[in-house]
Amino acid sequence: MNDVALTILHETPADAAAIERLNERTFGPGRFAKTAYRLREQVAHSLDVSFTARTGTLLVGSVRLSPIRIGATKALLLGPLTVEPAFRERGVGQALIERALQEAKAKGHKLVILVGDEPYYGKAGFKPVPPGRATMPGPVDPARLLVAELADGAFDGVSGPIKPD
Ligand SMILES: CC(C)(COP(=O)(O)OP(=O)(O)OC[C@H]1O[C@@H](n2cnc3c(N)ncnc32)[C@H](O)[C@@H]1OP(=O)(O)O)[C@@H](O)C(=O)NCCC(=O)NCCS
Repeated sequence: MNDVALTILHETPADAAAIERLNERTFGPGRFAKTAYRLREQVAHSLDVSFTARTGTLLVGSVRLSPIRIGATKALLLGPLTVEPAFRERGVGQALIERALQEAKAKGHKLVILVGDEPYYGKAGFKPVPPGRATMPGPVDPARLLVAELADGAFDGVSGPIKPD
């Protein structure tokens, strides 16, 4: 159902406050305890592969990607992905993911990893990381650690701890 005139734009520094409010409303203070957040607080997200969704001037969604390494291999961590509740179930989230992956690929990135629901992110090509192949710096449900290859075979032979880059 695409009944929202949606624009996907690169995130800019001017978006920071609105995104922070959206994430606060969505995830609450519990977000600071998440393992993925702990990684993100050690490394700034990359504005060149992070996007906002807008209807007119209203910010209704955000996806951020941060530079990390899996073992020695460079990759990106996707998250948070957040859509304003009134604008959910209209394809905004998938549009943000698709745009971010497209841009990451165009910029030469080969791997994107995230912690999230496989039934949702599977639609964008994410697959579960085989148990033990990559480890987050804290507790994560292994079934929710997902990876997308932006180049064929990019995850072959990649393993190790996930760290900020
Ligand atoms: C998850 C979220 C980003 C989805 O955004 P959205 O714009 O509503 O998603 P889309 O419109 O692109 O996709 C909607 C579809 O995904 C499904 N979906 C949504 N969340 C899902 C989940 N966690 N698991 C499985 N399916 C999910 C919907 O049921 C819907 O299915 P349909 O297309 O068959 O009707 C949004 O609900 C949100 O901000 N949630 C709170 C924050 C969050 O959980 N973020 C993800 C973890 S970082």
